[in-house]
Amino acid sequence: MRQVSCFPVIDLKNLTANNMSKTIIVTGGAGFIGSAVVRQWLAETDWHLVCLDKLTYAGNSTSLPASHPRFELAVMDICHAVAVRTLITRVQPDAIVHLAAESHVDRSISGPGEFIQTNVVGTYELLQATREYWNALERERKAAFRFHHVSTDEVYGTLGAEGYFDENTAYAPNSPYSASKAGSDHLVRAWHHTYGLPVVTTNCSNNYGPYHFPEKLIPLMILNGLAGKPLPVYGDGLNVRDWLFVEDHARAIRAVLEHGRVGETYCVGGRAERTNMQVVNTLCELLDELHPQGAPHARLITYVKDRPGHDRRYAIDCSKLETELGWRQQETFESGLRKTVQWYLDNPEWVQGVISGSYRQWIDHNYAARGQA
Ligand code: NAD
Ligand code: TYD
Repeated sequence: MRQVSCFPVIDLKNLTANNMSKTIIVTGGAGFIGSAVVRQWLAETDWHLVCLDKLTYAGNSTSLPASHPRFELAVMDICHAVAVRTLITRVQPDAIVHLAAESHVDRSISGPGEFIQTNVVGTYELLQATREYWNALERERKAAFRFHHVSTDEVYGTLGAEGYFDENTAYAPNSPYSASKAGSDHLVRAWHHTYGLPVVTTNCSNNYGPYHFPEKLIPLMILNGLAGKPLPVYGDGLNVRDWLFVEDHARAIRAVLEHGRVGETYCVGGRAERTNMQVVNTLCELLDELHPQGAPHARLITYVKDRPGHDRRYAIDCSKLETELGWRQQETFESGLRKTVQWYLDNPEWVQGVISGSYRQWIDHNYAARGQA
C-alpha cells in the first residue's frame, strides 16, 4: 500500500542503506507535471521520492503509483511551516523540487488570493524551512544539496510577432498567476544571493500530455470534443503558445537538477509555436480519426469572450539548456498530441475521477461568464 500521511512515516534505515540513492521531496507531485516527474523518475532512477502535496482540486493521488517501495505521499500545505519543517527533518532530503502552485490563469483572474498565498507565501515558507535544514547539514551534503524551483515563461510577459524569451529577458508578468510566480522566482533568487542556498530555477513554456486536469486548453478541448460539447476559443484564437510534452519537461528538470549550475536559471521550451486555433483544429482532426462517432469535431468550435489581459505570444529560446546540458525534447508536437488524445481515450476512469462537483462548477462558471462571442 502507498503510504498517505499528514506527517511522514518514512523508514530512514531503508533510505540511507543505499548511499548512492538520493532522497528527493517533490512539492506538488500530485499535479499534472509533478506526477509526470514522480512516475518518470521512479522508473528511470533509484531515487526515493516523497511527494508533498495539499491535494487541492488539481492534485490527484490516482495520477501517482498506487504502491511503490521508493515512494511516499505526504498530504500537507506548503504554507504550513511546522508540518513542512517536520517533513524535511524526518526525510533528510538531498534535494527539494518545488512544483506546488496554483497554476491556472483564468482562476487567478477570478480569485487571485490563493495564488498569492500558495505561490508567494508558500514558497517563502518552504525556502525558510529548507534554509534551516540546509544550514545544519554537514559540509559534503550541504554542497551537494539543491533547491529546484519550477517556474513558467509567463513571468516574462508577452511577445509580439517576433523574438523569443530567454534567461536574460526582463520580468514583466501580466496576470495574477504570472505575477505570483515571478514573486516566487525572485524569492528563490534572493535566498541564493543572500543566504547562499544552492538553487536552480527552470522557466518552462506550456506543457501538455496525459493526466492533465481538464481546465487547461488541450485537455478541455479533448474532453469537450469527446462529449460533443462546445470548444470555447477565447478572443480571435490567434494567441500563440510554445508547447512541450510533459515528459520532456520532466527530463529537463532532471537534467538541470543533476547538472545545472547553482544560481542559474534555464529556459525550457518545445520550439513548437502554435496559435490556439491551430491547436484546436489539430485536436479536432485527431478526434475525427480516433473517435469518428463525433466527427466532424470542428463543428463544435465556439468563439467566446476573450480573457482579460490575455498574453498574445509566448516562445522560448532554450539554447542554454540544449548546449550546456545536452537536453533535447523527444516528442514532436504532432507525436505528443496524438499520444495525449489516445491517453484520454484509453483512461476514462481517470477522467471520471476528476469530473468532480467542484470541477464542473468551475467549468460552468467560466463558460457562463464568457458567453458566446
Ligand atoms: P497543477 O495545478 O496541475 O498541480 C499543482 C499541484 O500543487 C497540485 O497537485 C496541488 O494539489 C498542489 N498544491 C497546490 N497548492 C498547494 C499547497 N499550498 N501546498 C501543497 N501543494 C499544493 O500544476 P502543473 O501544471 O503541474 O504545474 C506545476 C508547476 O509547474 C507549477 O509551479 C507551475 O507554475 C509550473 N509550470 C506549469 C506549466 C504548465 O504548462 N502547466 C508550465 C511551466 C511551469
Ligand atoms: P491555458 O491552457 O489556460 O494556459 P496558459 O493560459 O497558461 O497559456 O491556455 C492556453 C491558451 O488557450 C491561452 O491563450 C488561452 C486559450 N484558451 C482558450 O482559448 N480556451 C479555453 O477554454 C482555455 C482554457 C484556454
